[in-house]
Amino acid sequence: MSVVLNASNYDADVPVPAFKPGPAGTHITIRGLTKYFAGWPLYEDFNLDIPKHKIVSVFGPNGCGKSTLINMIAGLVPIDAGEILFDGKSLKDTKIGYVFQNYREAMFPWMRTIDNIAYPLKLEGRSKAEVDRRMAELVASFDVKFDLKRYPYELSGGQQQTASIMRALANNPEVLFLDEPFSALDFEMTLFIREKLQEVFMQTGTTMLLVSHDLEEAVYLADQVLLLTKRPTRVAEILPYGDARPRTVETLSEASFIGTKKRSLEIFQREVRR
Ligand SMILES: Nc1ncnc2c1ncn2[C@@H]1O[C@H](COP(=O)(O)OP(=O)(O)O)[C@@H](O)[C@H]1O
Ligand SMILES: [Mg+2]
Repeated sequence: MSVVLNASNYDADVPVPAFKPGPAGTHITIRGLTKYFAGWPLYEDFNLDIPKHKIVSVFGPNGCGKSTLINMIAGLVPIDAGEILFDGKSLKDTKIGYVFQNYREAMFPWMRTIDNIAYPLKLEGRSKAEVDRRMAELVASFDVKFDLKRYPYELSGGQQQTASIMRALANNPEVLFLDEPFSALDFEMTLFIREKLQEVFMQTGTTMLLVSHDLEEAVYLADQVLLLTKRPTRVAEILPYGDARPRTVETLSEASFIGTKKRSLEIFQREVRR
């Protein structure tokens, strides 16, 4: 068990509460998370355990803080108070990947797509041979049919989002964050990328946090649906969803899938009306 050490441990005899670890299988522990925007609380003493090797879909009312939550965990938005640990480690000792909603602004426009994807590997100082090997793996696992030598703006939206997911996975992150990764895509591309994500997940078991505003999509990929309340935001409920993978079109008509969707919607509506 780890203990929160801060100045008061040394300065006074005030006992500091021990950091309460999550249950077995927890990857990310969030304790006492507090975040204010312009004097208004968004999160206050928020606690959550995110399981390892699972996909957690985050669902909740507009503006309840879904993006802010994953951005705080990913270190993109500073927190006012609290602690977030990954297997007991801090963010700086954890490899993460992030897929943005807006693929158009996610890539460096002056770099060819292949160099965008390889960028995290180059940042890590990998040799050319290592970069080439990892790129070949990614191309094979995503079954890429388009020319990666093109610049991002020369690709379709779906191709750009595929490339940005490849980039997010390039250095084999421990956690992958996805903020509405399908929302700017057409239906066909959404289905394609959804399947790719599921395949990658089945191959690697990467812990994923997926924000979605589409309940069907949120449940389809999830091991857990994390339902949030209106702000100040709390956990409304966490629904487990355990259908076997790979999930397919048939999954959509399974009683367990429909039941989880229905229950999620009930909780969502209850929270919106509250
Ligand atoms: N940088 C910011 N400054 C002020 N308010 C913000 C900022 N970012 C987000 N908010 C507010 O925090 C709330 C949650 O935002 P967000 O996390 O984007 O919600 P969601 O992704 O659930 O729609 C919203 O009310 C939003 O207006
Ligand atoms: Mg958002």
